[in-house]
Amino acid sequence: MRVFVTGTDTDIGKTLVSAWLCRHFGCDYFKPVQAGLLPRTDSEWVKTHVNCHTHPESYRFREPASPHYAARLEGQSLSLAQIRLPAVPRLVVEGAGGVLVPLGEGRTMLDLIRALALPVLVVASTRLGTLNHTLLTLQALRSQGIPVPGVILNGGLSDMTAQTIEDYGGTSVLQQLPLLPEVTASTLERLEPSAALRAALSNLSGGGV
Ligand SMILES: Nc1ncnc2c1ncn2[C@@H]1O[C@H](COP(=O)(O)OP(=O)(O)OP(=O)(O)O)[C@@H](O)[C@H]1O
Ligand SMILES: [Mg+2]
Repeated sequence: MRVFVTGTDTDIGKTLVSAWLCRHFGCDYFKPVQAGLLPRTDSEWVKTHVNCHTHPESYRFREPASPHYAARLEGQSLSLAQIRLPAVPRLVVEGAGGVLVPLGEGRTMLDLIRALALPVLVVASTRLGTLNHTLLTLQALRSQGIPVPGVILNGGLSDMTAQTIEDYGGTSVLQQLPLLPEVTASTLERLEPSAALRAALSNLSGGGV
């Protein structure tokens, strides 16, 4: 299975969820656009926590900023055509920020997702404001005809949030991940994927889980 992980915002838990997916579903990890290299990149974080295979980024920029701006600071620009998926059957691809993050020349992360033609898991939180952010993200993905197997709620459990996203977003909340007191390889390992997540991922084109 090959899947793209986006989120409703930056810092929402995309890397943690991606690492967790790689660990439990035996996937490689790929972060095509990394803006900000310190204290460590997302690929380095994943490698440290789950030791799966990580593929080199297509673009790495020093500034922890929107990719369109981080690229400009280094006199570069991003070309979607230069971003090629690693040819492996099991892959988790992590976006940068959320779906409308600018990549330059009028393109956004949504254009990259469309070009990569992968189904998308949306990572959302249970914080106040998440319903609006999650529904907007789902609407943007749907507007481009991008398949969304479902949402993963991260960093706190809330059945009300899950139910409301399902009711208003027309999608499934596949997993609720708690706020971990400590984020380590073993706490990530102990979080079991739900039956709903396993089923959704096994239905993705490109093979079962
Ligand atoms: N369920 C959780 N329990 C505890 N800490 C968490 C949880 N989810 C995320 N975090 C922590 O929150 C911070 C942000 O998470 P993460 O780096 O995964 O976000 P992100 O969406 O990938 O951010 P970016 O947009 O920079 O790629 C990290 O320090 C991470 O370890
Ligand atoms: Mg990240």
